Amino acid sequence: MCGIIGHVGDGDALETLLTGLENLEYRGYDSAGVAVQNGSGIDVQKRSGKVDDLKASIDGVSLDGAVGIGHTRWSTHGPPTDENAHPHTDGTEDVAVVHNGIIENYAELKASLQEQGYEFTSDTDTEVIPHLIQSHLDAGLSNETAFRRAVDELEGSYAVTAMFSGEHVLYAARKGSPLVVGVRDDQFFLASDVPAFLEYTDTVVFLEDGDVVVVDKEEIEFTDLDGNPLVREPETVEWDPEQTGKGEYDHFMLKEIHEQPVSLAQTIEGRTDPENGRITLDELDPGVFDGIESVQLIACGTSYHAALYGSLALNRAGVRARALLANEYSVATPPIDEETLVIAVSQSGETADTLNALRLANAEGAKTLALTNVVGSTAARVADETLFIRAGPEIGVAATKTFSSQAVMLALLAHRIGADVCDTRPTDPDSLVFGLDRMPDAIDDLITSSDAESIARQYDGSQSYFFIGRGLGFPVALEGALKFKEITYNHAEGFASGELKHGPLALVTPDTPLFAVFTGVEDEKTLKNAEEAQTRGAPIVAVCPAGHRAVDIADAHLEIPETDPTLAGLFANVQLQLVSYHAARLLDRPIDKPRNLAKSVTVE
Ligand code: F6R
Repeated sequence: MCGIIGHVGDGDALETLLTGLENLEYRGYDSAGVAVQNGSGIDVQKRSGKVDDLKASIDGVSLDGAVGIGHTRWSTHGPPTDENAHPHTDGTEDVAVVHNGIIENYAELKASLQEQGYEFTSDTDTEVIPHLIQSHLDAGLSNETAFRRAVDELEGSYAVTAMFSGEHVLYAARKGSPLVVGVRDDQFFLASDVPAFLEYTDTVVFLEDGDVVVVDKEEIEFTDLDGNPLVREPETVEWDPEQTGKGEYDHFMLKEIHEQPVSLAQTIEGRTDPENGRITLDELDPGVFDGIESVQLIACGTSYHAALYGSLALNRAGVRARALLANEYSVATPPIDEETLVIAVSQSGETADTLNALRLANAEGAKTLALTNVVGSTAARVADETLFIRAGPEIGVAATKTFSSQAVMLALLAHRIGADVCDTRPTDPDSLVFGLDRMPDAIDDLITSSDAESIARQYDGSQSYFFIGRGLGFPVALEGALKFKEITYNHAEGFASGELKHGPLALVTPDTPLFAVFTGVEDEKTLKNAEEAQTRGAPIVAVCPAGHRAVDIADAHLEIPETDPTLAGLFANVQLQLVSYHAARLLDRPIDKPRNLAKSVTVE
């Protein structure tokens, strides 16, 4: 939701902090700020707006110092104002704090601190932390003990980092919100996410819930909240710093769409045996699905569409499966027992709704599996098993390459679970494995020859945009519509093809283009549904292979290759991603950071 960066070392902290904030802007971008230890005390500079606004406002201000913290914010408590921006202080600037997450008991803590005479200047929950720390300093505790005591009093979720005046040390703690340490010879970094410091180091230590870190430029100490030492081993992440920049593309979203041949190859790599037409997934132990009778997939947003896709792929493989919105799971919980496999699908692995559902499934005794892109994410820690989709960092708020990788991973998993649980070779694995083997190149060809830009131009300015699909094409229709509305701000809606005539047809006019996804299964019926809309004047864009009957009837065509029906929808999805991108571009929208949205939604 928000981004944290901290730096301790010999060099100048400010530059590192500002670079980190730019790298983290995708986590939140309605305000930004830094605090730097400047020799005589802590200097805080913060304001509403983007990191560029912060940079402009501190241009020319002397902010020297080797220790500092910074934050990019996505508002949860209080509007995006200068006062509500982080870092927050105790008012005297003895201590400065940045925080991600939600302090659930902030109202009572605030009331109690106000009664003791501490004055608040913001609407945020975070501001209780520096005042709590100050109250313990006032009671005579040391900086470290005051920090620990304050953290111990917080209820809710947090990744918190603090610095004290006159001390070249950072203190950090995590519970329910990610925090990672970057290690370099003469420098340490603290951040909510690895890309914050990836150009400086790829050696990282992921913190666990309950960890406290104290770091100066010489050493780093990991303990629990009571001060008991913990061993936390550094690991090397293999993300390329180049990957976190836009490179030759105008937007991260376009770059990430174009990266799909590579990201999908990474997802598939080593998980199939093309020569023998087999899906291997050897990273999962034999017997891991023994005794599983049914599968529930839980997720939100785009990941939910991937989950829906996965549930249909599992059904095709003979497995009882359903996809559920994670945010509905606690109020509409289907029966769960130890014979249920619950798969949490989450790109970030940090979505609060999905984590809550995952924890509920754990508590009910289900076997749980996280499908995520982020190594060290909370979902990966909470679930019994984890599969990484290996799509690489995704910066554009609108998910693109991660959806494709999630769906492909779920198609692989469906085969493996089908074989393990039902002892079947469900659909035709040769055709799927062959299709997967060809997929990266075929997506490259599709992107290069796509007519999406001219189709976006053709239908620019329409009143509404509809997307239909059947079977595995249905989640693709939903995803096509979600992407379109997210980044164009135009009304778009996805329907199961057969549902069109049960109500939505009333909306259809010559001003509502309809994108129809054909996956090779019951295409005649989908074509009939599209024609019903066309009869009412709606222009039809057929997303199907060349030579398909729909091409003759449609007003426009987006081509996909002939492939296994399980994969056809994923090619269609790439075409629809491109249409949304170009439509948003024509409207000059802030494509990578659509209004009101954040990349990682860590509140319920
Ligand atoms: C839409 C989008 C969101 C996310 C949703 C879940 O483009 O990205 O709908 O899919 O917020 O996020 P994760 O996958 O991180 O759990």
